[in-house]
Amino acid sequence: MTASSHHQKGMDLFHAGCYAEAAQWLEKSIAEQETSERRSDWAAALLQAGWPTQAEAGFRRALDLDPANSVAAANLGVLLASSQRTDEALVLLERALQSTAMAPAQQASIQQWIEKIRPAAAIAPRPSDLPSLAMPERPKFYMNIELPDGSFTGGPSDHTSWPAHLGLSPAMVAGKRVLDVASNDGFWAFWAEKHGAAEVLAIDVEDYAHYDWSFGGPPASVKRGDPKNVGFWWLHQLLRSRVRREPISVYQLDPEQHGVFDIAVMCGLLYHLRHPLLALDTLRRVCNGVLIVETHIACADPLLPASLFYMDDVFRGHANWTGPTEAAVVHWLCSAGFPTVYVERDRQSGMYARQKFIACANSTWAANFQHNPNFQLCDSNYFRQTRAALETRLGLPPTTTT
Ligand SMILES: C[S@@+](CC[C@H](N)C(=O)[O-])C[C@H]1O[C@@H](n2cnc3c(N)ncnc32)[C@H](O)[C@@H]1O
Repeated sequence: MTASSHHQKGMDLFHAGCYAEAAQWLEKSIAEQETSERRSDWAAALLQAGWPTQAEAGFRRALDLDPANSVAAANLGVLLASSQRTDEALVLLERALQSTAMAPAQQASIQQWIEKIRPAAAIAPRPSDLPSLAMPERPKFYMNIELPDGSFTGGPSDHTSWPAHLGLSPAMVAGKRVLDVASNDGFWAFWAEKHGAAEVLAIDVEDYAHYDWSFGGPPASVKRGDPKNVGFWWLHQLLRSRVRREPISVYQLDPEQHGVFDIAVMCGLLYHLRHPLLALDTLRRVCNGVLIVETHIACADPLLPASLFYMDDVFRGHANWTGPTEAAVVHWLCSAGFPTVYVERDRQSGMYARQKFIACANSTWAANFQHNPNFQLCDSNYFRQTRAALETRLGLPPTTTT
């Protein structure tokens, strides 16, 4: 099915009142080609399905893609007006009203909204004085994230100590463009926003069906259609966050569309991928500073650059494909265009070992991490050892050095 037929199917479902299902088909059409109109239709379906925060982000994205999209402006205006954000609502609704593309009935409805909120807009309080929007019930979190009151969300994936361990200081983040890949509940996205990042984009697939499946698609056991990443949107609303989120796979990152980032973080994803090298190559195209990678590694022989391929559900379920050694990840990062790589010194052992890597695209970023005692620079000696391990495994005569 093509992107346009995905869009058509989504709109048919929308008009039939099946909004959650419509959103899924519209998301598919966006995954193939994102346009302002598709993003706006997707957001409208989410709004009808009862997901206002996601819808708001969608309408904003549609307006980023095409500021003249009057449907997105009108919808966002009504959404904001309904939550007492009347100043911005008024600007959007007035902009939408000027569009010649609006049908008379839509114009009349927009006019009614304008009349309803205009007096309120004139005396609108500053955003900080506004009462908080009613929060939906707190969802179950996967990632442990600190809340403004000092409590934690309590999920099992706990990265709270990682910025310090990695030597990623708030000063490095301030004013930077940050990309959070496989963002899930958004620990890294919200952390970067809190520390003054100029812009943060979080990406993740929004349905298990969009994991990296092979030709046959997801196995029957895979849950489909459940809203994923609900924790992210709950936090987004609580924090009144400006983080942008796109429901895309890592392979869909595109410098033309998303720009280039100073800091990219990809934790817990590499082993889910069938094309880990393609993902790293793609990330290099959108990251010109530092890429942080955390992943499962196969650790029997860490200095041998080799990778296991996990068949079927042999390694903790069908969604795991790739078991690289430490040296394989280092070589993949270098060959993707990150000339300086640091590897976490403490090597875990055992079947479920994991490791962190800091890959730098240039010497300025590389200098930031050179004194971090938790990480080792992969220098010429490291690469001599990995080459020797490979030669031994292949039975080649050792390289002679002069
Ligand atoms: C093990 S969780 C890791 C989540 C989080 N980064 C962490 O470290 O706790 C794997 C995450 O990867 C996301 N994911 C799976 N396939 C993906 C893909 N092809 N592109 C982007 N994200 C993907 C999943 O939706 C999920 O949020």
